[in-house]
Amino acid sequence: MKIAFLLSIHFSLLIFVHCYGGNGYDPLENVLRIQRSKRSVHDPIKNKELNTEYSYPPVYVGPQDGLKDFDKISSLPGQPTGTDFDQYSGYVTVDPHHGRALFYYLTESPFNSSTNPLVLWLNGGPGCSSFGNGAMMELGPFRVNADNVTLSHNKYAWNNVANVLFLESPAGVGFSYSNTSSDYETGDIQTAQDSYTFLVNWLERFPEYKSRDFYITGESYAGHYIPQLAQLIVQNNKITNQTVINLKGIALGNAYVDSETENTGMYDYFWSHAIISDEIHEGIISNCNFSEAGTITEACEDYLSQAKAARSNIYFYDIYAPLCSSSSNSTPSISEFDPCTGNYIDSYLNIAAVQQALHAKPVYWESCNDFIGKHWQDMPFTVLPVIQDLMASGINVWIYSGDTDGRVPVTTSRYSIDKLETSVEKPWYPWMHEDEVGGYVVGYQNLTFVTIRGAGHFVPSYQPARALAFFSSFLEGKLP
Ligand SMILES: *[C@@H]1O[C@H](CO)[C@@H](O)[C@H](O)[C@H]1NC(C)=O
Ligand SMILES: *[C@@H]1O[C@H](CO)[C@@H](O)[C@H](O)[C@H]1NC(C)=O
Ligand SMILES: *[C@@H]1O[C@H](CO)[C@@H](O)[C@H](O)[C@H]1NC(C)=O
Ligand SMILES: *[C@@H]1O[C@H](CO)[C@@H](O)[C@H](O)[C@H]1NC(C)=O
Ligand SMILES: *[C@@H]1O[C@H](CO)[C@@H](O)[C@H](O)[C@H]1NC(C)=O
Ligand SMILES: *[C@@H]1O[C@H](CO)[C@@H](O)[C@H](O)[C@H]1NC(C)=O
Repeated sequence: MKIAFLLSIHFSLLIFVHCYGGNGYDPLENVLRIQRSKRSVHDPIKNKELNTEYSYPPVYVGPQDGLKDFDKISSLPGQPTGTDFDQYSGYVTVDPHHGRALFYYLTESPFNSSTNPLVLWLNGGPGCSSFGNGAMMELGPFRVNADNVTLSHNKYAWNNVANVLFLESPAGVGFSYSNTSSDYETGDIQTAQDSYTFLVNWLERFPEYKSRDFYITGESYAGHYIPQLAQLIVQNNKITNQTVINLKGIALGNAYVDSETENTGMYDYFWSHAIISDEIHEGIISNCNFSEAGTITEACEDYLSQAKAARSNIYFYDIYAPLCSSSSNSTPSISEFDPCTGNYIDSYLNIAAVQQALHAKPVYWESCNDFIGKHWQDMPFTVLPVIQDLMASGINVWIYSGDTDGRVPVTTSRYSIDKLETSVEKPWYPWMHEDEVGGYVVGYQNLTFVTIRGAGHFVPSYQPARALAFFSSFLEGKLP
């Protein structure tokens, strides 16, 4: 009896702890911990090193003939009838010697696919799957139903207005893999390079997209991936004799871009949203120095633990949302996000017929790979200088934030924008969607900041209609 009870606790922990977006599961904490330990031995990884390692064209380009046809998905098991767009998925080899290949999923637009832009979507972690989380839980055309085997259509899917390419990155995430296991000890530099090599090869496989307007968006730790990949594209475009990628803009959602503002913004958000006490907040302010040169003292660590305990088991990716529990109502619905969605996805993507339909290698699919996050090798303390370069390079830079996220909260984004030292051009105003405030906007010089009201960390999961409205504005390059 007692053993059965303990086992059942264990089992439910296993289920909930392993899904990205599962309550209490926090892959970003892995790198924050690494970041803190690096800082205490005064070994910060500088942006300079990243920049000099960045330019490596030409990149490996493998034969792509016939692979596009092979990658076409005829239909996903359990897919609703009347699906009116094309889907593709498969592998692109980025390193033939190591046997390293990245998995992608492309959803084309039902209308105007041949003229709509191409948008790359990246989830963070590091180690979390853009296909399972981004496509199946957030902005893709399908959601997995509570039966774990059928799909329903997401009418607010972003492929309504763009051809959306989901990339599982780096190798080891989702269906992406390497035949050389040491490749799973990776970091920011390798991730950016592999993503770039992926794009150059993918554009050979889908040459109709070569000169198409191209955008990159994503969230969370993709706040590192996106600026670094964009910078690599901008730099390589100037010198490459391979494909020039027509990068027009980037949008960073609830993005981890700076270690100091991540910490200060999060604890200020916890305090201002009545999640931690005055005493803990004051204790953090007077004992913690989160700057790059600062050291994290024992007194500070103690207050941080107190904050974690005080927060208790709220769902900190969306602080007012219900938890996934056996009593939660599991009627499939797009506009009311089912907090157990991660579990359905986990089951669905491990069905052999689903993996086969996706042209994936048969594997045990996980929404996040903890090994990757815990062994992350390199990351700068901040990517704000990279973002500043991009702002000056003429591409459209947007920062957006779901305002009920406690993981990378809106305060963090605002503190990061302060550090970018840009100036307000169009002051704060509410943007409207269906006669309600969808959120707020500030137009800065070379930067747009947009909040999405009532959305947590996974913005399109919680506010699908507002998210699609914001995304459409971003592609049009117009403030919402
Ligand atoms: C990895 O190894 C398997 C088995 O040898 C091989 O079939 C596959 O093509 C390799 N993957 C890559 C990307 O080279
Ligand atoms: C397709 O493009 C045309 C021309 O730009 C536009 O008028 C039409 O609204 C678009 N259709 C959809 C469904 O987006
Ligand atoms: C591109 O440049 C590299 C040297 O930077 C050269 O080895 C390669 O042959 C060039 N490729 C083409 C197609 O011109
Ligand atoms: C944090 O520490 C750094 C380096 O010691 C120092 O320059 C800075 O003033 C400190 N910040 C605060 C708020 O005390
Ligand atoms: C769906 O999968 C989850 C595990 O991911 C499991 O707990 C649940 O019982 C499954 N639901 C059904 C209807 O089989
Ligand atoms: C904005 O871009 C222009 C043109 O590239 C550049 O001169 C200016 O410094 C940029 N300002 C900011 C704040 O990024």
